[in-house]
Amino acid sequence: MQRRGFLKALAGAALVGPELYPAASGARETSGNAPVRIGLMLPYTGAYAQLGTNITNGFRLAMAERGQRLAGRGVEILTLDDESNPAKAPENAHRLVSRDKVDVLVGSVHSGVALGMARVVRETGTPWINPNAGAAEITGSLCAANVFRTSFSNWQTIYPLGQVLRARGHRSAVFLTWRYVAGEEAAAAFREGFEQAGGKVVKELYLTFPQTDFQALLTEIAALKPDAVGTFISGAGAIKFLKDYAAAGLRGRIPLYGSGFLTDGILDEVGDVAEGIETTLHYGDGIENKKNQAFRLAYAKTFKLQPDVYAVQGYDAGQLLALGVEAVQGAVGRRAELLSAMAKAKIDSPRGRLVFSSAHNPIQDIYLRKVVGRENRVIGVAHKALADPGRGCKMA
Ligand code: PHB
Repeated sequence: MQRRGFLKALAGAALVGPELYPAASGARETSGNAPVRIGLMLPYTGAYAQLGTNITNGFRLAMAERGQRLAGRGVEILTLDDESNPAKAPENAHRLVSRDKVDVLVGSVHSGVALGMARVVRETGTPWINPNAGAAEITGSLCAANVFRTSFSNWQTIYPLGQVLRARGHRSAVFLTWRYVAGEEAAAAFREGFEQAGGKVVKELYLTFPQTDFQALLTEIAALKPDAVGTFISGAGAIKFLKDYAAAGLRGRIPLYGSGFLTDGILDEVGDVAEGIETTLHYGDGIENKKNQAFRLAYAKTFKLQPDVYAVQGYDAGQLLALGVEAVQGAVGRRAELLSAMAKAKIDSPRGRLVFSSAHNPIQDIYLRKVVGRENRVIGVAHKALADPGRGCKMA
C-alpha cells in the first residue's frame, strides 16, 4: 500500500507541469544560461502508467546525478500525460514543441503514440529521444538525424525467444498479444525466430489494446494444446494476464514465455504465478557491472523502489541527452553538432555498454531471464550484440 501511495504521489506530481531547476542557486537567468527545456511526453494514466512513471524516475535520476545542470545550464522538465492514446499524439507533441518550445522531446511508451510523435519531429527537426516504444519504422523508414531510441525495436526483444523454445524441446506454440503495432510486430518476430529454429506457430491470438478480458483466448489455448505459449503483454495487462493464466489452470500445463515486458516491474504484485517463467530482454536482475550496481543503489535510495527496464531506458535517455548538450557546451541550437555527438555516443548503461546503429537504435545483448522469487534473474545471453535490421532507413 505504501508503495502504491508513493507511486501515485509521484505520478500526480508529474502531472502538475513544469519543474524548474535553475542553473545555479541565486543566479539570475539570462538568455545565455536559460534552462534547457525538456518535454517528457509519457503515459501517466492507463495501462502503461507505471511504465511512464518509471521512465520519468530514471530520467530524473540522470539529471539529479548532474546536479540538475547540463553544460552549466539548468534543466526545465515539462511533463505531459499522453494516455497511451495514438489519436491525440500529434496534437500533444505539437503542444510541447510549438507552444511550450521545448528544446528536446522525450517519449513515449506506446508504439502508436510514438509514430504520431515521429511525424511532428520530422516536420520540426526537434531532437527526439524515444525511451521505450519499439515500432520498427521509428528506426526504419522514419529514421532521421534527430530521431533516437534508447530502448529497443520490438523485433529485437522477442526474435531470440524462438531459439530458447526449441532448446526447451517445444515444437508448436500459440502467440497471444494485443492487436496494435507493438503486438503485431512482436507476433511476427516471434514467428520468424521460432520457425527459423524449426518450430511452428499454430495460431496468433489477439485482444484489442488495452483490454484484459483474456478468458476466451485462454479457453482456446487449452483446446489447441500447443507445446508452449509466447506472448507480448505489458504493464497492468501483464499483471492480469499472469493471474488469469494460472487461474485457468494453464500454469504448469503449458509453459508460458514472452518478451521480458511480461514480467518486468510487476513481480511484487503477482505473487508466485510468474515463478519460473523465462523471457528475453535487454536488461534483467543480476547484471554485474559497476554502473548497474551504482544505478540500482541510487535509484532505490531516491525512489524507495527497485528499478526495472523502463527506469533504465529513461536513465539512458537522460545520459544521451547530457552527452549531446555537453558536446555543444549547452548551445542546443547547434542541432547538427548535438545530433552528431549523440549518434556517436558510447554510453555506460546499467544494461552494459550502449552504442547505436546507423539508424540510431541500440545494438545490445538480449538476455535470457528466469523469474526466481521477485527477480528476473539473468541466466544467459539469448543473442549477443543484436542489431535491428533498420529496414527502410535512409539517413539524410
Ligand atoms: C510499445 O508499444 O512499443 C511497447 C509498449 C510497452 C512495452 C514495450 C513496447 O513494454
